[in-house]
Amino acid sequence: MHHFKYSKGELHCEGVPIGDLVEEHGSPLYVYSRQTLLDHFSRLDKALTDLDHMICYAVKANSNLAVLNTLASQSSGFDVVSEGELMRVLSAGGRAGQCVFAGVGKTEQEIEFALRKGIYAINAESIPELERIDRVAARLKRKAPVSLRVNPNVDAKTHAKITTGTYENKFGVPYEEIEGLYARMSRMKHLSIRGVQMHIGSQLTQVKPFVDAVRKMVPLVRNLKEAHALESFSIGGGIGIVYDPALASGSAKWWKREEAKGILTPELYAQKLVPLLKPLGLRILLEPGRFIAGNAGILVTRVEYVKNTGKKHFVIVDAAMNDLIRPAFYEAYHEIVPIVRKRGQHVMADVVGPICESGDTFCKGRPLPRMKEGDYLAMLSAGAYAFTMASNYNTRSMPAEILVHGAKHALVRKRQSIRSLWRQERVPVWE
Ligand code: LLP
Repeated sequence: MHHFKYSKGELHCEGVPIGDLVEEHGSPLYVYSRQTLLDHFSRLDKALTDLDHMICYAVKANSNLAVLNTLASQSSGFDVVSEGELMRVLSAGGRAGQCVFAGVGKTEQEIEFALRKGIYAINAESIPELERIDRVAARLKRKAPVSLRVNPNVDAKTHAKITTGTYENKFGVPYEEIEGLYARMSRMKHLSIRGVQMHIGSQLTQVKPFVDAVRKMVPLVRNLKEAHALESFSIGGGIGIVYDPALASGSAKWWKREEAKGILTPELYAQKLVPLLKPLGLRILLEPGRFIAGNAGILVTRVEYVKNTGKKHFVIVDAAMNDLIRPAFYEAYHEIVPIVRKRGQHVMADVVGPICESGDTFCKGRPLPRMKEGDYLAMLSAGAYAFTMASNYNTRSMPAEILVHGAKHALVRKRQSIRSLWRQERVPVWE
């Protein structure tokens, strides 16, 4: 469910016409719906009411301060992967005591920062990391709260670049080694064992891999709880969203169709997992990113040229792979729609950006209404892993971001000025 809908032929975000936003703020433009963020957060939260749980939103999905602040207002926790993300959360009104810190390569400085701020748990991924955390905590004369990330060796059956829970991946500690490592951790003077964590991958559209992984973890977690008085078990993120056009219509019936097709919903997720998790008597942490933010954002782009080569119909837009890399990087599908509904015959179009790489393509051979220069298109489901993965490739400035709240909107990140892109650069004087 999301709040991007046509009204009188014009695409709106909540009560605001997208056309008004691009007119005022230019293109390309990211537009987020506050209500959609809130709806997703509360839908997941409600589905889990029977469970002692804490949602730790994965900041990497969309780290705009206004987005973080919206979630902090719901008492959300946060899953961070760098000192920078933790700083963002704190600046946006989040609390370190509700944050978990993930990642295979935390530096000493990052560990120190997280400990000083009072992080809820550092999710450690290796013995050398545990040793480093112990050393930093000793220096700070405090105890570091840690959970170990278990690699349960379960195939999430998602895109190869975003699957994480098998022994082919760099993540976590093999399941078989966990009990020995907890024994070792309990002997490290400056660590306090907080819990245990897993994350098997992202954009999972079926519940089975979650069930398989949790089932596998339950006996281990029970033993660990007995031996080390765990407080929490994080089951990671990964709930997938619907990118599919037939489903992502934003209509009220959308959930029903989702369920009918056996697609993962928070209700199904809860229905299958809560009975397995509740008997553990632990606080269950979740780290959803995409589920919360994915369908809460769009990228609006202007049509610059229409180029017909006889063989192909190219719609050349002003957004590029530097603004939204998912199609180029993961062959990801994003629904593309005009911001003003058009009648007439569709044409099979490739929507492409201006960058000199064939990968700079948003879709190929997709039926689209006939577009002309100056029209605008919206790429849907661009609320997660979209702006956060943007770059300045081709010395292109990053788009502005807007947050809509009912009939109001706010510029929540200014468009970068082109000159600012090389402000940190220096030409050396060699004399
Ligand atoms: N927890 C951990 C430890 C993670 O590594 C991730 C995502 C999450 C939680 C959140 O996963 P989510 O609920 O959003 O699926 N850039 C890729 C996705 C990378 C995901 C990385 N880890 C994409 O655009 O599809």
